[in-house]
Amino acid sequence: MSFQTDSERAQLQARIIALESLQTIARELTAELDLDVLLKKILLAAMDVSRSTAGSLFLYDAATHELVFKVIVGGGGDALKETRIPADKGIAGESFIQQRVIHVENAQTDPRYFAAPAVSVGLFVRQLLAVPLLAQARAIGVLEVMNKDSGQPYSDDDIELLTAFASQSAIAIENARLYGQVLDERDRILAVEAAVRHELARDLHDGPAQMLSALIMEIRFLRELAVREPNKLMTEFLNLEAVAQKAMYQTRNILFDLRPVILEQQGLGPALEQYVMRLRMVEPFKITLNAETLRTRFEPKVEAAIFSIVQEAVNNAKKHSGATHLEIDAVENDSALTIAVRDDGRGFDVSQIQANYGQRGSLGLLNMKERAEIARGKLEIDSEKEKGTTVRLSLPLQ
Ligand SMILES: Nc1ncnc2c1ncn2[C@@H]1O[C@H](COP(=O)(O)OP(=O)(O)OP(=O)(O)O)[C@@H](O)[C@H]1O
Ligand SMILES: [Mg+2]
Repeated sequence: MSFQTDSERAQLQARIIALESLQTIARELTAELDLDVLLKKILLAAMDVSRSTAGSLFLYDAATHELVFKVIVGGGGDALKETRIPADKGIAGESFIQQRVIHVENAQTDPRYFAAPAVSVGLFVRQLLAVPLLAQARAIGVLEVMNKDSGQPYSDDDIELLTAFASQSAIAIENARLYGQVLDERDRILAVEAAVRHELARDLHDGPAQMLSALIMEIRFLRELAVREPNKLMTEFLNLEAVAQKAMYQTRNILFDLRPVILEQQGLGPALEQYVMRLRMVEPFKITLNAETLRTRFEPKVEAAIFSIVQEAVNNAKKHSGATHLEIDAVENDSALTIAVRDDGRGFDVSQIQANYGQRGSLGLLNMKERAEIARGKLEIDSEKEKGTTVRLSLPLQ
């Protein structure tokens, strides 16, 4: 039987309380889905648990291999927010790369200490505990607490508590990020859907709806004519028929754009042929198609993706290029399928459009790029002012 002194008992009790509060915090954290709020809560809780007077939380940016200051408490605080350090620099960097806890008793004299460049934080760091944030054994950031209120070094208990806390926190961060991604994705799908509806409304308005009003006018005219000059009726009927026919073509084109059944049933080659045939009936420019070598059938979603890239490229040529000639070249050989849509129109500055694409409110180029990813193909857009534009999709065939 072991005897406990009063102080041992008090220590044990304090530890139990700390663990309990940690559990409560961890539960609360997983419910927080706003990433910024969550990160702040994590840091404040970590400082609270370890009785620290300062702290910072870094998240890793894999694209640049940097650690980004997300929350800072103490010293210069907000001035450092969103500043970056190389992911392998400093005590935080070492903790991140080696995925281990680092405890130093006097940080500012430690050779690894790396003050963020060009910012005076106005904080003298003594004790420092850096704990990696590990999610499924992968480091996603670092949690640092500094300067215990007692002025003492961090204890083993502190380290143990913070390590447990950091792993809970990392899970909560991953949750919040996934949630953020789902929200982004939902917004994007809603935007695409709204754009499709918008386009459909515009097509119906500009096409069949206008043709129908022309038809009504023509019929009224015919009624008068039947009374006044019935001998002229025959020629006017021809007119009427032509307008009705055009309305039918346009409606069929819209239906085809919405759901090209022939694509599902017969594949890309026949679908392209039918598509071009329909275009020729209503578009003023010359359209050439070369699709004789197409034979491979792909998964339905891949075929749909390829086809809608062609549709968007053609729509862009129709809307923006003022071309007199449009050429669709679809070539398949043993190793690849390449589809190029080429117009001889006014062209545009691709990099300039892409540079501020987010602010444009258009989706066409972005959709083409995403559809190319679905088809695991490579999309290139070449355009030259006054020469024309080529959109080219290449798909490797195994
Ligand atoms: N073939 C082309 N010829 C000339 N300019 C083009 C051509 N294709 C695209 N562009 C230019 O690039 C811009 C972006 O194209 P994108 O398809 O993303 O948008 P949009 O056609 O304007 O709108 P949305 O496709 O969303 O209806 C166009 O607004 C146009 O200025
Ligand atoms: Mg477009």
